[in-house]
Amino acid sequence: MLEIAYVDWLELGLRWLHVIAGIAWIGTSFYFIFLDLSLRKHANLPPGVGGESWNVHGGGFYLMRKYVVAPEELPKELHWFKYEAYFTWISGFALLAVIYYWGAESYLIDKEVLDLQPWEAVGISVAFFAGGWLIYDGLCRSPFNSHPLLLSAAVFVLIAFSAYFLTHLFSGRAAFVHVGAMVGSIMVGNVFFIIIPNQKKVVKALIAGEEPDPALGIQGKHRSTHNNYLTLPVILMMISQHYPMLYDNEHSWLVVTLVLLVGATIRHFFNLMHSGRPIRTLRWQWPTAAVLIVLLIAYLSWRPEDPSLAEREIPSAGDILAISQARCVSCHAERPADPDLDKAPGDVMLETVADLRRHSARVFKQSILSNAMPLGNKTGMTVAERQAWGLWIRSGMPEGEDAKDETAAEATGNEKATGSGAPAAAADPAESLPASAGGTGRPGQLSK
Ligand code: HEC
Repeated sequence: MLEIAYVDWLELGLRWLHVIAGIAWIGTSFYFIFLDLSLRKHANLPPGVGGESWNVHGGGFYLMRKYVVAPEELPKELHWFKYEAYFTWISGFALLAVIYYWGAESYLIDKEVLDLQPWEAVGISVAFFAGGWLIYDGLCRSPFNSHPLLLSAAVFVLIAFSAYFLTHLFSGRAAFVHVGAMVGSIMVGNVFFIIIPNQKKVVKALIAGEEPDPALGIQGKHRSTHNNYLTLPVILMMISQHYPMLYDNEHSWLVVTLVLLVGATIRHFFNLMHSGRPIRTLRWQWPTAAVLIVLLIAYLSWRPEDPSLAEREIPSAGDILAISQARCVSCHAERPADPDLDKAPGDVMLETVADLRRHSARVFKQSILSNAMPLGNKTGMTVAERQAWGLWIRSGMPEGEDAKDETAAEATGNEKATGSGAPAAAADPAESLPASAGGTGRPGQLSK
C-alpha cells in the first residue's frame, strides 16, 4: 500500500530549497560585502575604478575591480545576483504558509495568548510582513537616512517592537519565526525594491549614453549594509524553531533584542577585519558579544525558586500518566485522536509509563523548562501539572504508590522488556537532553 505523507514531503522539499537558496544568497552577500571592504586604491587604477582586490580561490587568482558608479561602457556580459534572494523568500514564505497558515490552529494560534480564528491570524501575519517593510522603507527615506547610527537604532526599535507585538498575538514559536521572517522580508525587499531597480536604472542610463546618478548606487549600498548586519540574527531566528528555550519565554522580545545585538556585533568585527584593520585593534567586539551571550543564557535559564515545591509530595508514575492521557495522548499516540495528525508527532508516544521514561529528557525540555508542548496548549495543561511532571522527573521518576493499578502494572512490564534504567539516567534530565532536535512530525492533515 502506498501511504504518502504529502504534507511532510512538500515541507521537506520547500525546506531543502529554502536552505539552498538561503546559502546561495547569504554566501554571495557575505562575499560582496567582503569584496567591497577589501578593495584597495593605488595609483595605476583605470579611470572610474575605486579600488581593486586580489583573491585566490580554487587554484586560481582573481583580480576584482569596483567601478564606483559604472564603467563607461556596458560590458557584453553582466552577471546579476538577485534570484538567490527571491527564491529564498518564495520558498520561505511557502514553507511558513504550509506550517503556520495551513496548521494555524496548532502552530500559529495560542488561545492563551490571543483567541484568534485561523483567517484572522493569517491576515495579521501577512499584514505584519507588508507593514514591516513599509515602516522600514519609510524610516530609510526619512531624515534618519543621513544619520546612519540613528537609522540603525530606529530599525532596531522597530524589530524589538514587532517582537513584542508578535508575542502578544501568536504562539511563542510562531512569534519568533515571524520576527525572523519579517526581517528576512525586509532584506529581500531591499534587493527587490531598491538594489536591483537602482542597478537597472544605472544600466539604462549607460545604454542611453547618459551619466548614471551616483545616488542610486549609494542607496543600494546602504540597504545592502543593513542586510549584512541583519543576516546573523535572522539565521538564528530561523533555526530557533528547534529550541523552545529561545522562543518560549515570557519576554522573548528581549531575547530578540539580545540576538540582534550579538549578531550585529559579530558581523561588525568581520566587516572591520575585512576592511584591513589589524585584528589586534579590534578589541571590544568579541568580548561584548560574549558578555551578551552569557547574559542571554543566564536570562533564559534563571527560574525563581518555588518554596512550595520542596514540600510537595512526589507524584507517582500513575499520576503523571493520567496527566499525559489528559493533555498529550490526543496527539502523542500511535493513532492520534487529533484530526490534524495521522501519526505520533516526532515519533514521541506518551501512552505508557515506559514511554514517559523513555522520552523524559525531551518532555522536560518541551513541557517543563518551557511551555512549547502541548502545542498551542491546545489541551489546556495547567502550571500545577507541569510542576508535578517536573518534580516526578527530577525525583528520578519513581513508580510511586499506585504501582499496582492496571496501567502502571502494564507499564512496569514494558519497562522490563525495554530494560529501561531511566530513573537513574534521567536524574538530571538537562544533562541527558538528546542532541537531535528532530521532530518534523507536524499535523499531517491528510484528511483536509
Ligand atoms: C495538539 C497536538 C499535541 C499535543 C496535545 C501535544 N503535542 Fe507534543 N508534539 C506535537 C507536534 C505536532 C510535535 C512535533 C513538533 C514539531 O514539528 O516541531 C510534537 C513534538 C513533541 C516532542 C518532541 C519534540 C522534539 O523535537 O524533541 C515532545 C517531547 C512532545 N511533543 C511532548 C509533549 C507532551 C509532554 C505533551 C503533553 C503535555 C504534548 N507533547 C502534547 C503535538 C502535540
